[in-house]
Amino acid sequence: MRKQFKGIVLLVAVMVFSIVATACGNGGGTSGSGGSVSVGIVLPTKDEPRWVQDEQRFKDALAGTDYTTEILFSQGSSAKEKENVETLLNKGIKILIICPQDGDAAAAAVEAAKKDGVTVIAYDRLITNTDAVDYYVTFDSLAVGAAQGQYLIDNAKASGQPLYLYAGAATDNNAFLFFQGAWEVLQPKIADGTFKIANSTEAEKLKDTKDLSRDQMSSIIGQVTTNWDPNEAKNKAQTHLTAAAADMKGDVSILAPNDGTARSIADVFGSDSEVTSYVITGQDAEQASIQYIIDGKQSMTVFKDVRTLVKDAMGMAVEVLDGKTPETTGSYNNGSVDVKAKQTDVIVVDKENLQKELIDSDYYKAEDFTGL
Ligand code: BGC
Repeated sequence: MRKQFKGIVLLVAVMVFSIVATACGNGGGTSGSGGSVSVGIVLPTKDEPRWVQDEQRFKDALAGTDYTTEILFSQGSSAKEKENVETLLNKGIKILIICPQDGDAAAAAVEAAKKDGVTVIAYDRLITNTDAVDYYVTFDSLAVGAAQGQYLIDNAKASGQPLYLYAGAATDNNAFLFFQGAWEVLQPKIADGTFKIANSTEAEKLKDTKDLSRDQMSSIIGQVTTNWDPNEAKNKAQTHLTAAAADMKGDVSILAPNDGTARSIADVFGSDSEVTSYVITGQDAEQASIQYIIDGKQSMTVFKDVRTLVKDAMGMAVEVLDGKTPETTGSYNNGSVDVKAKQTDVIVVDKENLQKELIDSDYYKAEDFTGL
């Protein structure tokens, strides 16, 4: 009931804003040249389907409104990201919604925005070690990792199953949260022999430590990072399997941090004749990974409904523009300050529930897939 009420308030706020905002309306998310822009959106890269998905969801949410927004991509470069922020500042943005390429490096860009009196909303990834972040909209990233770890536990075939660990980019604060969430549930099962670590001497050294420090996590992530790059993930997986003794093959479990890396790691494990079966995690519910799950090549994904994140970010932007204080649900310490945050839950998806969670909820259309 309360949720519904909040939804109506937000809808009204959005409608009012649509009417009030008159300058060069560009509902599609790109501004006319030279016009002023109220809300600037900066996303990390077009090379990963996850962020193209976010762009599309922003566009869908903005269609038919008069938001004056512009979406720019940083293409994996912090320098380009800084340039994008400057471009938007020159267009007079009041709000910056930014998903950093590199959490630390983005500090300079948002500090420039703050100097211009702009409200900064970190989107999905936290910007670290600066006080120039006002708000953070995010999914529950610890829960993402915990869900991945739990899935591996629930689907392990036998005791002593080899466990291959992979992580995201160390420049992304989320990579730590995902790993921490997974490690906290996996560690007791490593300590009791349910799993044996196959590809990280650092993780092996820390197998009796449940609460890892940031430095300890860094030492493991340093060994098993994919840098969020499917090619790097593939090369690492190949190297690991080449080095693996026979007792590290057979039925195996693989912690893959996201869908893009999961698919390439799965391809490598799937083509090794000594790997009898594998269970592999993912996240993002990318269309290609949903097809992999239908085909039995990826085991699960963690569905993060980007529509909610977009709605939260734009809802916050509208409230700030209206002179109000956005509602938040908690905070995240970014190494410098506690950043007020709005957090969204995640949903585990596998073969059993993908129809209900992704098709029936209109996230994807049934005809996007074969063999459903
Ligand atoms: C996001 C994930 C994404 C990854 C790689 C993370 O910060 O939360 O959804 O898969 O970055 O882009």
